Amino acid sequence: MRKAVIAGNWKMHMTCAEARAFAEAFRPLVSSLPADRDVVLAPPFTAISTLATALDGSGIHLASQNVHWEGKGAFTGEIAPAMLLELGVSHAIVGHSEPRKYFSESDEQINRRARAAQSAGLVPIVCVGESDGQRESGETERVIRRQVEQGLDGLDTNHLIVAYEPIWAIGTGKTCEAVEANRICGLIRSWVGNPEVVIQYGGSVNPATIDQLMIQPEIDGVLVGGASLDPIGFARIANYQAPVSA
Ligand code: PGA
Repeated sequence: MRKAVIAGNWKMHMTCAEARAFAEAFRPLVSSLPADRDVVLAPPFTAISTLATALDGSGIHLASQNVHWEGKGAFTGEIAPAMLLELGVSHAIVGHSEPRKYFSESDEQINRRARAAQSAGLVPIVCVGESDGQRESGETERVIRRQVEQGLDGLDTNHLIVAYEPIWAIGTGKTCEAVEANRICGLIRSWVGNPEVVIQYGGSVNPATIDQLMIQPEIDGVLVGGASLDPIGFARIANYQAPVSA
């Protein structure tokens, strides 16, 4: 049975002091989660160490917001897998739509990042998703299939997560309709070709939409941006109500 993964992506938010305050408020609210789910937080690189200390013993996992494919070298602004592992990081987000958009990250680069992460022992969270225009012109399936095939090329699909994040739903308050998100996640599962692969939905997830999303059979968790910055709201998301059949 697939374990749900509830992940918070803090993007460029939270100083160390703010991360510490978040952890203090958040920890007690998620201290008795059901065993069917994992919680992951992806702070900025600068707050990883602080958060690792503040969450020590809580069972909450840490993710990086990106990772480079080289072990070290002249790559200003990048971070190597070993540097993250040393801090207790277990997951690495790659291919998020923001670096795809602002830094023109290609599927090939994303694949290199994911491969390096996986071979170092990190679980890559590979993000895929269509833009508004691509959805309107009927290209959704083709775009996501290409992102999945190129982004996951050569990866062990038992040790990765795919996050379906329609770009038009990110930070817009427009959550993709749960049934439609479920349909796309099901397609992704068939393209990955591994029924056990963990697939998240992301895009304006909040405490009011989480239960409806998690009831869907193909959705194994969520990747949450804005709503993960509030400890009470994110704790409500982590405490989503499991489907009756689980
Ligand atoms: P959002 O961001 O929840 O703020 O829409 C999701 C994401 O970018 O991962």
